[in-house]
Amino acid sequence: MNVPFQKELENASSPINTATGIPNWFYISEDALEAEKKKLFSENWAGLGFAKDVPEPGDVKPVSFLGDPYAIVHGKDGVIRVFHNACRHRGVRLVREAGKTTGLLRCPYHAWCYSTEGKLKQTPHIGGPGIHEHKDIDKSKLGLIEVRSHVFRDVVFINLSGDAKPFEEMFASVIERWKEFNQPLHHGGEGSSFKLEVKTNWKLAMENFCEAYHLPFVHPGLNEVSKLEDHENILSKDTWSGQLTKAFRMFTDDDGRTFDSFKDLSSRWDSEAEYIAFYPNVQLGVHKDHAFALIIEPQTAGQALEHVEIYYSSTEMVNEDWKPMRDSLADFWKSVFIEDVSIVEAMQMGRHASGFDGGHFSPVMDEATHHFHGWVASQHLNLK
Ligand code: FES
Ligand SMILES: [Fe+2]
Repeated sequence: MNVPFQKELENASSPINTATGIPNWFYISEDALEAEKKKLFSENWAGLGFAKDVPEPGDVKPVSFLGDPYAIVHGKDGVIRVFHNACRHRGVRLVREAGKTTGLLRCPYHAWCYSTEGKLKQTPHIGGPGIHEHKDIDKSKLGLIEVRSHVFRDVVFINLSGDAKPFEEMFASVIERWKEFNQPLHHGGEGSSFKLEVKTNWKLAMENFCEAYHLPFVHPGLNEVSKLEDHENILSKDTWSGQLTKAFRMFTDDDGRTFDSFKDLSSRWDSEAEYIAFYPNVQLGVHKDHAFALIIEPQTAGQALEHVEIYYSSTEMVNEDWKPMRDSLADFWKSVFIEDVSIVEAMQMGRHASGFDGGHFSPVMDEATHHFHGWVASQHLNLK
């Protein structure tokens, strides 16, 4: 198959000193987004939603992603699964709102019923009035269609194609890097959850997260406490990249209170925090006293929705007493992310300049961004 802009994509994945960025078409064309949906969002692990939205067995949540309806279902067996949100009979969208299922998931059209594990349980009148079975309908073959999924740091990732490497293998190096943080996350509740609509291509939101280069210019307030020279790129050979700061300080309120830390962390995390982009569309941050997760949901070629969630180390940190301080921390992050919005929107505008060649990278400051470009290019070039 002919790949549009093959030469330019090859340039994007060449060494950073000579590379040019991915060309404009991939940022402004709906055809490019459609190609990305079929390729890099399907064949990798994409962020779909958050496990905290289905905290207990029986909880369900419908989610739409790249135009497809899904249902995230916390089975009564304790397992969180993702299904294509369509009844196996005539395709009605099954889960219509978030909530708790006490019995079965019941289709509103002809009342076929499914267990929360996705098994088809009841097919009323399928063999005629009052006859609920038919010899040609094998219920065991007509369960809800499951999408391969994996929960990591509360993010529900999906691999639509079903044949990506296991999540633990694809992200083995970062899972190892963050193994000290492998402990329960407690969502901060209302106020620790917000969304930002951004008029930009989803890739620009990811690229912006990869770098600290813009810190002094876009985040002057943040730069006062965590300066450009306190940051380093984090590179991998894998499907992630990011940045770290060596000037992390615990969030403190006016009375000098700080949030409890995650348990048994090494002293490194007293002064460091890390921000890693999990390709294609998830951004995670870890700090000694809190964590955040972002899913970048592409809506059109030039529009994305950022879903932001903030987490703490214990149930106490998420009780009412700590809410004002949690809200202050959420406000802090919101203001930082909003500072980024106008700049990623301006990058999107620049992508309409037909003479723009995709851009050039600082061989020192843009390594993590260049790594992302190389990955996206290799996906479009159908390289594994
Ligand atoms: S479409 Fe669901 S039962 Fe008919
Ligand atoms: Fe930023």
